[in-house]
Amino acid sequence: MTSLADIAGVGTDPRRGGYSRHGFDRVELELRTWFTEEAGRRGLSVECDRNGNLWAWWGAPGDGAVVTGSHLDSVPGGGAFDGPLGVVSALEAVDILRAKGFVPGKPFAVVVFAEEEGGRFGVACLGSRLLTGAIAPDAALRLSDSDGVTLAEAVRAAGLDPAGFGPDAEALRRIGVFVELHVEQGRGLVDLGVPVGVASSILAHGRWRFSISGEGNHAGATLMVDRRDPMVAAAQVVLAARRAATSVDGARATVGRLIPNPGGTNVIPSSVDLWLDARADDDARTRAVVAEISAAASEVAAEEGCSVTVSEESYGETVVFDAGLRDKVSDVLGGVPALPSGAGHDAGILAGHVPTAMLFVRNPTGVSHAPEEFAEADDCAAGVVALASVLEELAR
Ligand code: GLV
Ligand code: MN
Ligand code: MN
Repeated sequence: MTSLADIAGVGTDPRRGGYSRHGFDRVELELRTWFTEEAGRRGLSVECDRNGNLWAWWGAPGDGAVVTGSHLDSVPGGGAFDGPLGVVSALEAVDILRAKGFVPGKPFAVVVFAEEEGGRFGVACLGSRLLTGAIAPDAALRLSDSDGVTLAEAVRAAGLDPAGFGPDAEALRRIGVFVELHVEQGRGLVDLGVPVGVASSILAHGRWRFSISGEGNHAGATLMVDRRDPMVAAAQVVLAARRAATSVDGARATVGRLIPNPGGTNVIPSSVDLWLDARADDDARTRAVVAEISAAASEVAAEEGCSVTVSEESYGETVVFDAGLRDKVSDVLGGVPALPSGAGHDAGILAGHVPTAMLFVRNPTGVSHAPEEFAEADDCAAGVVALASVLEELAR
């Protein structure tokens, strides 16, 4: 048996609450070791690919495998389920299939993707993006965390070779089909009164950095009329994000991270960096929301005597999951509902390359990326049984 309780004590964040587990940090490395041991106890052979993703093979590795899994990292102060539920459920599904004497007729693997949340290096789904070529390796390796440690330095410290990072045609060829089980990040299944569903789509989404420069100065000695305060401009960018997303049907815009430089209570900042997360049903709407916020940022920065630059740090177009696979999965499960996902996933990155599906497990709080994220034990168990049935059908 493997359960989330096994890792409940790893990476707890006493300051923020919940968990802070980030790609290639001490905590995530401990979780990777835990995964390797759990896989080893089952006789699965674990290998790390060129981009730091872990693969546990049931039988010999090979092309066209049935692959399931998720990620072990979290957002800062995240919940216990986003990512780890998919990894634990994958291992438990293997146990169920083994116990009933099933032997896969195809190569079969459980995968753990690296730095899915982008909580350390800023780009979500980094492991799957690197593997599929959705991000250039040199750009990825230059990314740095809040302490200035680059991805290249972090992976080297973790015993990996950054020179090997980049598109991995062999690893991609090995994935015949990918099924990711995930806690639902919303209340769709609660409203429908069912424990398990399948994903239909993922919103187009991306991250943009707004760097606003003004004039650092003294909080007491500088008259209000003399200020060029980038924080005042930043505050208006936050409000513009709310306005822009509210005016576009289904759009979402969030500023969840803002860093004033130098960051003193009695100091007018000389610059402020803030990050916009924007999402909508399609590319055009997402781009329109970001364009509106960017235009507002230029305007409010100029009014305040500041300047602003906007740079796109990552982007993914709308994902519509393979309809044939989605229907097959739903049929195997007796006709479970299909739900759209507002959250991004490694499954979304892989969907552009191989048939991909997702199972969602009911989340009674509807909350995610926060400590209140939850799923009942019975629903998690139903998710494992559902995942095992789907994998059995795909791997027979
Ligand atoms: C990841 O969960 C995201 O949607 O940003
Ligand atoms: Mn997440
Ligand atoms: Mn996730």
